[in-house]
Amino acid sequence: MCPGYSLGLKLIRSSIANMLHGFNRKLPENMKPEVLSMDEVYGLATPRKFPLVAVVEPRLPNHLY
Ligand code: HEM
Repeated sequence: MCPGYSLGLKLIRSSIANMLHGFNRKLPENMKPEVLSMDEVYGLATPRKFPLVAVVEPRLPNHLY
């Protein structure tokens, strides 16, 4: 058993929520979501076959970062 599992999940959720709240995201160079490859590489953690490239920009006032 992992004694930190519950804390780990909370940290992951909180980190993702912070990123979604703090930044707008878009694909580079007017790339359409339909052409994004969702292929995966089989293995222990199933990573993407091709890295996701995203352009992020702050959406909150500077003093909040
Ligand atoms: C989502 C996040 C996490 C995942 C997926 C995870 C996964 C695991 C796994 C698979 C094990 C081995 C369990 C076993 O032997 O049956 C383990 C053990 C352990 N984890 Fe995590 N873990 C996470 C977060 C954390 C955090 C945040 C901490 C500490 C703050 C932590 C501390 C430990 C410790 C001390 C053990 C060894 C327990 C023992 O063998 O006595 N883990 N974890």
